[in-house]
Amino acid sequence: MSVEPIILQQLPTDLSKDRLPQHVAVIMDGNGRWAKNQGKPRIIGHQKGVDVLKDLLRCCKDWGIPALTAYAFSTENWGRPHGEVQFLMTLFERVLRRELQEMKAENVKIRFVGNLQDLPASLRQEIDRSMEDTKNNQGIQFTVATNYGGRHEIIQACQAIATKVEQGYLKSSEINEGVFEQYLYTQGIPHPDLLIRTSGEMRISNFLLWQIAYAEIYVTPALWPDFNREEFHQALITYQKRDRRFGKVK
Ligand code: IPE
Ligand code: IPE
Ligand code: MG
Repeated sequence: MSVEPIILQQLPTDLSKDRLPQHVAVIMDGNGRWAKNQGKPRIIGHQKGVDVLKDLLRCCKDWGIPALTAYAFSTENWGRPHGEVQFLMTLFERVLRRELQEMKAENVKIRFVGNLQDLPASLRQEIDRSMEDTKNNQGIQFTVATNYGGRHEIIQACQAIATKVEQGYLKSSEINEGVFEQYLYTQGIPHPDLLIRTSGEMRISNFLLWQIAYAEIYVTPALWPDFNREEFHQALITYQKRDRRFGKVK
């Protein structure tokens, strides 16, 4: 990993500490293209992408942003070549095993969201361990969306709520936004204020469909393996210039 200029180790002075997003979500896209540009196999891009995510997590901590969510694997990504899917599953497992001690020491609270049952058992084991071991940590909330799909999340919430109604625990008239949110994977995590997508694609790709209703969206042409603190700095400058109206007039 490249060493960042010393100035970026702390919150840059042109950013206002009081108006930082309290939760940043990232669609980490462009690993494959980054590798291809270098004449390397796609998996090399995924490998480099892990280092970039690790530094972004540390950067959020250094700059005082309390929550980060990263899109690591979508419900649609199973449609990729078998070898790539297999590599990603093994990579996630390896990284978790390697990084858990450090995340514990740095007070990171890690949570995985998505349809976790369908992940390989050995990966699920590492996921469970990481969530259990960091559940009482009070530092940055780090959420990893793995086998995550926004549509799937909404459907499973509807099913769970319908079951409650069938069993007589809930009346249909009692279902409101607050109740609905309790059945989402992200229950208890505040909605993202800023959604960053790398690689220039202007789409959501089934990420946090409910939660990003009022997120500010920032798309950078940088490919994920090239995303760094300076890129993040630019995203935050743009964010702080936005006028968040939430449908109101001033
Ligand atoms: C994002 O990079 C990583 C995952 C979806 C796991 P891609 O693998 O989508 O890279 P591109 O978009 O093909 O360049
Ligand atoms: C979104 O990237 C999913 C993740 C970053 C995990 P994709 O590369 O899968 O999205 P599309 O196919 O470009 O929409
Ligand atoms: Mg992609």
